Amino acid sequence: MKIIRTIAEMQEQMLRLKSEGISIGYVPTMGFLHEGHMSLMERARQENEAVVLSIFVNPLQFGPNEDLDAYPRDFDRDHSVAESQGVDYIFYPSAEEMYPKDASVQVSVVDRTKVLCGKSRPGHFDGVATVLIKLFNIVQPTRAYFGLKDAQQVAVVDGLIKDFNFPIELIPVDTVREEDGLAKSSRNVYLIGEEREQAVELSKSLQLARTAIQGGERNPLKIVDMMMRHINKNTSGKVDYIEIYSYPELQSLETLTGKIIIAMAVKFSKARLIDNIILNVE
Ligand code: PAF
Repeated sequence: MKIIRTIAEMQEQMLRLKSEGISIGYVPTMGFLHEGHMSLMERARQENEAVVLSIFVNPLQFGPNEDLDAYPRDFDRDHSVAESQGVDYIFYPSAEEMYPKDASVQVSVVDRTKVLCGKSRPGHFDGVATVLIKLFNIVQPTRAYFGLKDAQQVAVVDGLIKDFNFPIELIPVDTVREEDGLAKSSRNVYLIGEEREQAVELSKSLQLARTAIQGGERNPLKIVDMMMRHINKNTSGKVDYIEIYSYPELQSLETLTGKIIIAMAVKFSKARLIDNIILNVE
């Protein structure tokens, strides 16, 4: 496995692979790798001849109230995880390498960002889009792997790839779950006492919604109301949002039809959990 820190060397290596017709599977991350990342690397390994992982804590996607310096970092651990997953290249640039001077062009994501978590993180997806445009140009992957736990990010990347004509196949990868259905997250350790047991009610409420839709319910307000009541009755958590949109467009729907996302965020005392399901409604 090769660790590369400069853009010039990364581009040189990737151009060489491309000239040899080697497919490149790419997993962009901010490091501190967890099981979600491992499922992305595993999938990339299955589907490509070369696998690239990038580790870069992108300052542009942190808001004024989000602590960039407090973001967890552990390169040695990430290095061993990547090695165990059969990664071929780690791109590990510094902030100075990625952003050597003030930008002369700014990227602004104008759609798919004013709902769900994007609503409370203005500018976040502009930072994500900016770094991904750079990373896509540096790595030039055949396929790029993103976790559906952050389905809004996947929707934004879908728009980015299509609008800017990147010749990249976007591969959304299913959320990794605990045995009881709770979506795996580094935040689960902050669940206190009974909250861990209650947290499973998020995925249960999504399954209730799925069953209701399979039973013929097409009114999104009724589904949201049912889920809201389920969470309020079975947990001490406070619902931040439960929303339903078309996917990946993230447009409101009066009647459920086509590909949809049901997404939720619930605040417990020290952890804010998110979860979602994506369904095809006939
Ligand atoms: O999902 C993340 O870790 C980041 O948003 C990404 C895609 C690596 C861009 O910085």
